[in-house]
Amino acid sequence: MESVTELMVSATLVLGANRGIGLGFVKRILAYDKESWVYGTYRDRDSAAALFSLAEHEPRLRLLALDVTEESQIEACLLTIGQELKESGRSLTHVINCVGMLHQDNLQPEKSLRQIDAANLLTYFQVNSIASILLAKHLVPLLKQTDRTIFATLSAKVGSIGDNQLGGWYGYRASKAALNMFMKSIALEYRRTCKGAIVVVLHPGTTDTRLSQPFQRNVAPEKLFSVDRCVEQLSKVMAGLTLEDSGEFFSWDGTRLPW
Ligand SMILES: NC(=O)c1ccc[n+]([C@@H]2O[C@H](COP(=O)([O-])OP(=O)(O)OC[C@H]3O[C@@H](n4cnc5c(N)ncnc54)[C@H](OP(=O)(O)O)[C@@H]3O)[C@@H](O)[C@H]2O)c1
Repeated sequence: MESVTELMVSATLVLGANRGIGLGFVKRILAYDKESWVYGTYRDRDSAAALFSLAEHEPRLRLLALDVTEESQIEACLLTIGQELKESGRSLTHVINCVGMLHQDNLQPEKSLRQIDAANLLTYFQVNSIASILLAKHLVPLLKQTDRTIFATLSAKVGSIGDNQLGGWYGYRASKAALNMFMKSIALEYRRTCKGAIVVVLHPGTTDTRLSQPFQRNVAPEKLFSVDRCVEQLSKVMAGLTLEDSGEFFSWDGTRLPW
């Protein structure tokens, strides 16, 4: 377990906090940093019972409804956070975007070109790629004065073009590759506008969540991380980041991944 100093934060924003890796981050920050506020976003109250039950006993946890495909909701959410932080004299030290989609309802990752569907591709891009650039747009007022803020979005190794050996999963792969390009470009612009921001994309490794559940059969047990282990590993990677790392793509063990 890493020392508590790695998460000595003033306020953290975790998007997709109602389940999976996002919920794991919320729990870890509340447990290891007794001062920090945590803003957690969820999309649907009905699937956020665990998060709401945490908030009942933890006043530092503030919950906000957010569907990341709606820019107006992203803007409103960040305005609220910006206002509260200003009034409390806190600053945002971590923004961790854990929202992502591989399958939902009738949408499954494509195994071949026969399954390509334009509407599904758009959904992948809206959730996995465009959300982060909209977030970056509306984060500027909150980040432009901060000394050190990590803005991390969870990507996936399968979004690496250089590493693609298997094909398939067209929408998910391409939307994560687009996310990576967005984050790289955001890092370059933030160098001028938000000079204390460290912008990175992180591959969490295969982690036991709803997202990976249908695809876990062929994963060796030692390669399937628990949420706690995943969050611990990613926290360690983030704790070691410097401004020079902004614009990079890191794996769960801190190694850099090819674009
Ligand atoms: N688990 C893995 O093995 C693995 C591997 C590589 C990369 N990743 C990446 O890690 C990130 C976290 O995934 P996870 O494993 O924690 O998956 P998860 O348990 O399925 O959680 C995904 C989160 O994204 C939210 N979400 C989806 N669409 C949304 C939308 N339109 N607006 C707001 N929130 C939305 C979900 O909310 P709802 O509950 O409301 O749907 C949920 O909070 C994703 O970016 C994923 O691609 C995961």
